[in-house]
Amino acid sequence: MAVSKLLGVDVGTGGTRAVLLGDGGRVLSAATSEHAPMHSQQIGWAEQDPADWWRAARLAIPECLERGKTNPKEIGCVGLTGQMHGLVLLDGDYKVLRPSIIWCDQRTDEQCKEITERVGAARLIELTANPALTNFTLPKIWWVREHEPQVWSRVRSILLPKDYVRFVLTGERAIDVSEASGTLMFDVANRKWSAPILEMSGISESFLPRVFESQEICGRVSKGGAAATGLIEGTPLVAGAGDQAAGAVGMGIVRPGAVSATIGTSGVVFAATSRPTMDPKGRIHTFCHAVPGRWHVMGVTQAAGLSLRWFRDQFGGGNEAGGDPYDRLSAEAATIPAGADGLLWAPYLMGERTPHLDPHARGALVGITAQHTRGHVIRAILEGVAFSLRDTLTIFNELKIPVESIRLGGGGARGSLWRQIQADIYGMPVEIIEAEEGAAYGAALLAGVGAGVWSSVDQACDSAVKVAERVEPDQDRAAQMNRQYATYRKLYPALREIFREL
Ligand code: XUL
Repeated sequence: MAVSKLLGVDVGTGGTRAVLLGDGGRVLSAATSEHAPMHSQQIGWAEQDPADWWRAARLAIPECLERGKTNPKEIGCVGLTGQMHGLVLLDGDYKVLRPSIIWCDQRTDEQCKEITERVGAARLIELTANPALTNFTLPKIWWVREHEPQVWSRVRSILLPKDYVRFVLTGERAIDVSEASGTLMFDVANRKWSAPILEMSGISESFLPRVFESQEICGRVSKGGAAATGLIEGTPLVAGAGDQAAGAVGMGIVRPGAVSATIGTSGVVFAATSRPTMDPKGRIHTFCHAVPGRWHVMGVTQAAGLSLRWFRDQFGGGNEAGGDPYDRLSAEAATIPAGADGLLWAPYLMGERTPHLDPHARGALVGITAQHTRGHVIRAILEGVAFSLRDTLTIFNELKIPVESIRLGGGGARGSLWRQIQADIYGMPVEIIEAEEGAAYGAALLAGVGAGVWSSVDQACDSAVKVAERVEPDQDRAAQMNRQYATYRKLYPALREIFREL
């Protein structure tokens, strides 16, 4: 029997998604199992139960195989990806000690300040390529050490979300270089754990999983893992990647010059680089890419798609019954001229990472008059989110990170209006790819490299990822959007103090 099929599994925030690929990277089937809602004992906190991820994986994997009418013996390799930065703590018997504190949890502002003071801001970037941010794993560890010493004293093992699922599936404690980069404990330039950071944090390296390159085989499905998922015992797993790096592989963003702009709940502008390019101001993340010898940079807008979802939830998705509310919102915005007649949206509904690194930032709708309509507000939101993503492109330009093409992903790539707005605001053609299947697809391609289906990640992308459409910017609108962007850039400095007072 041919063993050329590949399985990618994405342990996301909302759910776990499995994608099965056949010859040439063709998608055969997919299945998603939702997670329980995250719990939040206080505003800004976010926790999930690791057992729930495993429950979802046990449902999504067999359902995906069944939908793909696939005998598990045909699966040559499995690749994992998932939500990054989350903290899973295990005791000496590998039992979970407390719920996972996940990526969007904001409780660690104090710990970030402490880490920065102890190490020094410049030294921290030298050692780990990144500043201390509330999203990253190390500040979460410092928080547990300080607030739950009885838990910390029992910790013997530290894992990240997808690596916890890997541990239950295979019995191996492993992590890939891209995921490790988001822990603030990793020497990103040299692709290994940072001894100075571990030492000053009192973390023994034996607590941490072994580090692999993304396409390396790091374990095999155990007897128990096989019984739970229907996979065959001994099926190999590659290390995989964090969701951003895996998503980039799935869109063919692997060589320097290639850039993606993905609008999901958050918005990410991601570039592959041949060196670890660090921003001395720490406004963008510098992580190892899921390709040996390459790195990536990315800027994050916290509330990108979330801005539009917030509008839909609060003000309705349009009057017509049936159909997709986002299509109706888009149709309303399409009747409004570019620039929304001088209405501006700053999308800081959840604070902001790039470029302001300010958890206190708030959203703002500026310039509203009695003539403005719902359609204007929607158009301003679509444009404001694209301006915010352009802020990352501005930083790339400052740091001389080449941008040769921009591929769009996520919900922001689906409607024709938001595609055109992005082309006009980035001032560059944007590309839409044929099968945008997200991070699970990239993880499955990495599994294909591990299984020898392709000789390298570059080759996997060249043969599996195809451009379906290219959208050119309109020169007049691009010039107008340039002027509007200059005004948008003045919003945050003007409002910064007011946000703090609020
Ligand atoms: C990346 C990040 C998110 C999470 C959740 O830095 O915070 O992409 O991985 O998806």
